[in-house]
Amino acid sequence: MTLRLGDTAPDFQAETTAGPISFHEWVGEGWAVLFSHPRDFTPVCTTELGYVARLKPEFEQRGVKAIGLSIDPIASHQGWVADIKETQGYAVNFPIIADPDRKVANLYGMIHPAHDEVYTVRTVFVIDPKKKIRLFITYPQTTGRNFDEILRVIDSLQLTDGYRVATPVNWKPGEDVIIVPAVSDDEAKGKFPLGWRALKPYLRLTPQPGRSEAAEPAKR
Ligand code: BEZ
Repeated sequence: MTLRLGDTAPDFQAETTAGPISFHEWVGEGWAVLFSHPRDFTPVCTTELGYVARLKPEFEQRGVKAIGLSIDPIASHQGWVADIKETQGYAVNFPIIADPDRKVANLYGMIHPAHDEVYTVRTVFVIDPKKKIRLFITYPQTTGRNFDEILRVIDSLQLTDGYRVATPVNWKPGEDVIIVPAVSDDEAKGKFPLGWRALKPYLRLTPQPGRSEAAEPAKR
């Protein structure tokens, strides 16, 4: 099955380092980041999982839970987490799915046979509270992901869900946003009291809604 943006994230039951889960129930009322890595005891994956553990307060601030996956078994995951803490300085504080029969990997298209017939590639799915897929990205096994970018996209998604705006190239929280073209100037007057700069009739920039003017951009 090919998953696309807006599709319902497939539900599944799985064993994880935090015990068995039923995925949709585990996601609950918030957002989730489901990410696969190729295998345990590998260098790039070790750095990635340490970084995701470090980001836990950032995820929590946004109502997001993270969950990792590889096809290695639970005992392997449990042995590896000690190495992650030792080398990355952060203990793994989110569940890691054990998927030895590749049930979840196949459900989410995490195995790309022309890249690697056996192990998962690096995918990330961002799933919203309605269990819809809002973002997916796929990286090759040799490239560690940029999880700050995942947070940036979540910030954009949560902002654009709340207001009729979109975020421009390389946008960061606190920077100006774009009023979507479907909003007329008359409508925009009521919705964006701080006004806007129109570079073109279809390109109107306005301060990020929902922030006080004195607010500083979020720092990490
Ligand atoms: C790694 O995590 O370091 C890795 C995994 C599979 C292939 C290449 C690198």
